[in-house]
Amino acid sequence: MATSYKTQLLHHAYDRAAHNGSTAVPLYQTTAFDFGTSDHAADLFNLAAPGYIYTRLNNPTSDILEQRLAVLEGGIGSVVTSCGMSAISTTLLTLLRSGDHIVASSSLYGGTYNLLSVTLPRLGITTSFVDPDDFEAFEAAIQDNTRVVYAETLGNPKLDFVDLERLSQIAHRHHLPFVVDNTTTPGVCRPIEYGADLVIHSLSKYVCGNGSTLAGAVVDAGHFDWASGKFPEFTTPSPGYHGLIYSEAFGPAAFIAKLRVEGLRDLGGALSPFNSLQLIQGLETLDIRYERVSRSALEIARWLEGHPQVEWVNYPGLESSAYHDRCQQYIRGGFGGLLTFGTKGGYETAKKFSDSTKIFSIVANLGDSKSLLIHPASTTHRQLSAEQQLSAGVTPSLVRLSIGLEEVEDLKADLDQALRQSAS
Ligand SMILES: Cc1ncc(COP(=O)(O)O)c(C=O)c1O
Repeated sequence: MATSYKTQLLHHAYDRAAHNGSTAVPLYQTTAFDFGTSDHAADLFNLAAPGYIYTRLNNPTSDILEQRLAVLEGGIGSVVTSCGMSAISTTLLTLLRSGDHIVASSSLYGGTYNLLSVTLPRLGITTSFVDPDDFEAFEAAIQDNTRVVYAETLGNPKLDFVDLERLSQIAHRHHLPFVVDNTTTPGVCRPIEYGADLVIHSLSKYVCGNGSTLAGAVVDAGHFDWASGKFPEFTTPSPGYHGLIYSEAFGPAAFIAKLRVEGLRDLGGALSPFNSLQLIQGLETLDIRYERVSRSALEIARWLEGHPQVEWVNYPGLESSAYHDRCQQYIRGGFGGLLTFGTKGGYETAKKFSDSTKIFSIVANLGDSKSLLIHPASTTHRQLSAEQQLSAGVTPSLVRLSIGLEEVEDLKADLDQALRQSAS
């Protein structure tokens, strides 16, 4: 029976009968697995038989999460990692070597920006950051040694949405994989449908939903041609795995296989099975939580637009957002719980507002069921110059809200009293 991927997120890859009828997925809290015989161990190490070896490589609980994430994104396979940043770094280190180059959207999460602009250059991997809406400049930034095109769906805190189809066409014209971080729009946007080759997630946000668990994932669309000559790691014998040629051994799954058996093995960014279980639970309710926070965020955005202490509001669900039409093209469902606004009075008023809320907590996180806020100019972006802040979309009065599942009228009342206090 064909079922929607939303139904599969609750059932896929799990056989209750094989687990004493347990309706919840069991937790395999183990480091290693008994091989039984040396011959079976040899088969496992030769990748000649399916099975589990060591939880840094694979684990039955994490395996179910991985299969469901592949369903969520419409990919052929996925690997879960210890957090979103380890999904990004393991992906890039699986693809790249010293001397390689990345073309990335200039509107990226700060941790990713730092990885690309500070840490990877120490290994000889450089990045050109380009405005993702300047398609000509984006394509012109591709060099002979470029190996990856990288972007995020909904930028943060700018709340700009990239044109996935245009960027994937640019990447593919140059035989490059298009890697998309879909952390802020899980389930409602499926970048693979628009040409993405690899999709990254910080599962720590909306997929977890409780602000309790760090996790990340990489999903492989399985349609990138690794044999174009630009990626010899996939087409020539790997010294890291006794001469295995990934494209021959795994075909379309060459990337995700290499990321697991070499990337996780050597870099060690595996996810704890206990965390996998929490993420399996998060996935079960992702759809309804996202729908609810989207509804509340839209209501709050409209209400803030009419508030006397508010200068401007940015939410992709508002007709006034420059990205409203593009989001409608790419998002099926709500526009999410993230919105930004500017307080009248600038930096000090925005800070005072942040300190005055009672329900919202000041947190460098998003996608929690509890409502969160941050004033980037005085916190996450305070190390940047005024010019750098502006190019990241951070103005002195900007406050970012991550709307949670509380009663929306309570959230409005809290924001209202904090806005009044900040103006006094
Ligand atoms: C878009 C995006 N990607 C990646 C990350 C990193 O994820 P993690 O904190 O799970 O390492 C974050 C974290 O805020 C994020 O917002």
